[in-house]
Amino acid sequence: MIRSRYDALCHLGGGADVQKPHLLAPGKALLQGLGIDLFDHAQTYLSNKYLSILRCFVIRLKRACPFGTALRSHLPLGIQTMQYLPIFLDVRHKPCLVVGGGEVAARKVANLLRAGAAVTVVAPELAEPLRRTLAEGGLVHLERTFQEADLDGALLVVAATADRAVNRRVAELAGARGIPVNVVDQGEDSSFIMPSVIDRSPVVVAVSTGTASPVLARLLRTRLESVIPAGYGRLGELCARYRDRVKARFADQRDRRRFWDRVLQGGVAERVFSGHLDEADAAMAVELDAASPSAGMGEVYLVGAGPGDPDLLTFRALRLMQQADVVVYDRLVAEPILEMTRRDARRVYVGKERNNHAMRQEEINRLLADLAKEGHRVLRLKGGDPFIFGRGGEEIDTLAAEGVPFQVVPGITAASGCAAYAGIPLTHRDYAQSVTFVTGHLKDGTIDLNWPQLAQPHQTLVFYMGLIGLPVIVRELIAHGVSPQMPIALVQQGTTHMQRVYTGTLANILASVERDPPKPPTLVIVGEVVSLRDKLNWFNALGASTQGATTPIAPGS
Ligand SMILES: C[S@@+](CC[C@H](N)C(=O)[O-])C[C@H]1O[C@@H](n2cnc3c(N)ncnc32)[C@H](O)[C@@H]1O
Repeated sequence: MIRSRYDALCHLGGGADVQKPHLLAPGKALLQGLGIDLFDHAQTYLSNKYLSILRCFVIRLKRACPFGTALRSHLPLGIQTMQYLPIFLDVRHKPCLVVGGGEVAARKVANLLRAGAAVTVVAPELAEPLRRTLAEGGLVHLERTFQEADLDGALLVVAATADRAVNRRVAELAGARGIPVNVVDQGEDSSFIMPSVIDRSPVVVAVSTGTASPVLARLLRTRLESVIPAGYGRLGELCARYRDRVKARFADQRDRRRFWDRVLQGGVAERVFSGHLDEADAAMAVELDAASPSAGMGEVYLVGAGPGDPDLLTFRALRLMQQADVVVYDRLVAEPILEMTRRDARRVYVGKERNNHAMRQEEINRLLADLAKEGHRVLRLKGGDPFIFGRGGEEIDTLAAEGVPFQVVPGITAASGCAAYAGIPLTHRDYAQSVTFVTGHLKDGTIDLNWPQLAQPHQTLVFYMGLIGLPVIVRELIAHGVSPQMPIALVQQGTTHMQRVYTGTLANILASVERDPPKPPTLVIVGEVVSLRDKLNWFNALGASTQGATTPIAPGS
C-alpha cells in the first residue's frame, strides 16, 4: 500500500532537473503536515491547487535525501519519469497575477483570459495589446512596479518582465507562499510551465517539451493542428450534451465505453465533422435506441507490436491498443509500447521467457477465450509479428474453435526490423536471391533443421532464438559446406537505442563474442549481405535519444 503511494508520489514528482530552493520551504512545511499518510494529504493538496509545490517538494526529496532515493527506488522498473505533470486547472473567475506589461506578458494574459481567469497585471506601463484589453475591461492594471502584497490571494503568478532579477524575486516570493509560478524563459525558476495549446474547446490538447525547447513544442502543435479537425470541438460539445442520457441508458461502464467508441469512430462523428449537426443528432438518437446494453461477446485483437521501436507500430495496432480493455502481453513487448495501450486497461503479463513461462501456452489460449467470453475486448500484444515464431496461430486456433471473434494485425518481424536498423538488406541481387527465417531453438542440445538446404549459396539465413544454439549453428553450417569466411551478424535488441551489432565470420564469431557475449533478444543473420553493413549502416543507436526509434526493450531469454 505504502509502496504504491510512494510510486504515485514519484509520478507527481517527475524527473525535473531543477533547483528551486525557494520552493523547498513549502515542501518542508508540507512534510510536517503530511505525517505518515503522504498520499491522502497529497490528494488534498492537489485539490487545493498545491500540486506544483508538492511536485517540487518531491523532486527535492528525490534529489536531496535518502527518503527521496527511496521514492526513486520504488519506481517500478520501466516507468520513465516525466519532467512535469500535465494538469488542466480551473481558473475561471479566480485571481491570477501577471507581472510585466510587454508583448510576452500580453500572450500569457490572453491565455489566462481565454480560460476565464480574473487577471491583474502589475507593470509601470502596458504594451499596445494589453492597453486594448484594459480598455475593453478585460483586466485590472496596477500601474507601478511589483510589490509583495500583489501576491495576496493569487491562485497563480506569471512573471514576464524583461528583468530576470525581478522575475526571480517574484518567483521566490510566490514560492515561499506556495503559489505556483511561471517565469517566462526561466524554466529553472518556474514551478509550472504553460504548454503550447491546440484549442478545440471543449477539447484542448496541450504540448510541452518541458524546458527543453519551446520551438519544438510549437512545431509539434502546428503538426497536431493539421490532424485534429476543428470539428473535434463540436464533437466534444455533442458528448457533453448526451453524457447524462448515455449514462442513464447504460448503467454498465463497459457498455458506455463501447457505445462512445462506436459513436466517436462512426457515422455520428463523421456528420459532426462535416458540419451536419442535425443529422448527427438524429444518428445519435438511433444509436441510443439500437445499442444493446448487454456486454455480450467480446473479441480478441492479436496484434504484432514490432521489434521494439514504437514508431514501427501500424496505425491499426495503435487504434486497437487504445480500444482494448484487457492487455495480455509477454516479455518481448517494449515498455514504451505497453504505455501506449489504454490507461485504464487491465494488464496481464504472461511471460514467455526462456525456461520461465509465467503461463503455459494452453493457459494463455484459454485465458484469451475466457476474457472475450466475459465481454472484454482483449488485446493480445506480441513482439514482432504474431505469425512469425509467435505462436499466434495456436492462440487464434482456440478462439476459432470456440466461436470467439478475433482479428490479426501483422507487426514488423525482428528479421525486417533488425536487418533494416543494422544496415543489412536481407536480399540483394548480387548476393542473396532468397531469405530463410528459421528457429535456432535447441531441442536436447541439437537444432533440428535441414542443414544441407540451409548451406546452399546465394541466400540469407535469419535465425530467431539462435543465441544459445550459436555454436551448433556455426558448426553445422561449416560442416555442411558453408565457407568459414561467410559473414555473420548478431543483432541485439534491434531497433532500440540499446541496439548492438556484432559482426564477424563463421570462423571467428564465437571467439570474438566470448569476452562480451550478446544478451537476448538477439537475432542471427548469416550471408554475404552482412558485409554490406560496412557502407549501409545508418542507425547510430548510441547517439540516439530514448524516444521513438531508440526505445529499449525488456531483456529476456
Ligand atoms: C519467440 S521469437 C518471437 C519473434 C517475433 N514474433 C517476431 O516476429 O519478431 C523471439 C526471438 O525473436 C528475436 N527478436 C525479437 N525481437 C528482437 C529484437 N528487437 N532484437 C533482436 N532479436 C529479436 C530473438 O531472436 C528472439 O529470441
